[in-house]
Amino acid sequence: MLQVVNVTKIYEGKVSYRALTNINMTVEQGEFVGIMGPSGSGKTTFLNMVSTIDSPTSGEVLIDGKNPHKLKRGQLALFRRRELGFVFQDFNLLDTLTVRENIVLPLTLDGVSVKEMDRRVSEAAAKLGIEHILDKRTYEISGGQAQRTAIARAIIHAPKLLLADEPTGNLDSKASRDVLETMEQINRADGTTMMMVTHDALAASYCDRVVFIKDGELYNEIHRGENRQAFFQQIIDVLSLLGGNAADLSGVRL
Ligand SMILES: Nc1ncnc2c1ncn2[C@@H]1O[C@H](COP(=O)(O)OP(=O)(O)OP(=O)(O)O)[C@@H](O)[C@H]1O
Ligand SMILES: [Mg+2]
Repeated sequence: MLQVVNVTKIYEGKVSYRALTNINMTVEQGEFVGIMGPSGSGKTTFLNMVSTIDSPTSGEVLIDGKNPHKLKRGQLALFRRRELGFVFQDFNLLDTLTVRENIVLPLTLDGVSVKEMDRRVSEAAAKLGIEHILDKRTYEISGGQAQRTAIARAIIHAPKLLLADEPTGNLDSKASRDVLETMEQINRADGTTMMMVTHDALAASYCDRVVFIKDGELYNEIHRGENRQAFFQQIIDVLSLLGGNAADLSGVRL
């Protein structure tokens, strides 16, 4: 469902910087892919190419065979809103709104009826286990609840592709685990294709496949078998080969 073909990204400036070099990747419908690599290796840049937040210097990104980078601005905004879902490290919720209002935000822009909105909020809230906090303001909820709210907002329109940049970066280990288990469930139950950038080997071990980037190039990729703990160990091993600060082993937890 996602094809990345020979993507190179050069940031132009006083000194131009080549952040990605000839990246090729195919992601199948329903796959949950993790992206790992040292700080500055190009992970966020890569995610921004896929999410159409930024465009490649050369090469192509195809989502369901279409190149969103070729759409006009208005069409691109619609494409992002309807086909993609985003989850960020810092949740990006609006503080003046309740949890429920945050979740329905993408639908209000699309003129969905109130009845249909209520139905979809109930469904998403049940998946994320946040039914009891729907009427709270964002400052009244925990980090883990905030991230689950952000995920509910990201899946409310049933996106084809869910993109997450360090979704557990601001969460403690219990909340991380809850969020990851929920993402895994959504991936399995709804078949939503997911791509997640993470520094955390535990988070990555929930993916079907982890792709490692080093200095803007693909370095390696490994697939998960039946056993998540064995996969976790394999991830740690690749990270230690990668060196640098890729291996955030300070918080290793299993
Ligand atoms: N807008 C920009 N202009 C110029 N250079 C940039 C820009 N954004 C990123 N870079 C550079 O591109 C490289 C890759 O950055 P990127 O943010 O993709 O790294 P990352 O792998 O996400 O790192 P981290 O793990 O720290 O989030 C870095 O050297 C960074 O300094
Ligand atoms: Mg980054």
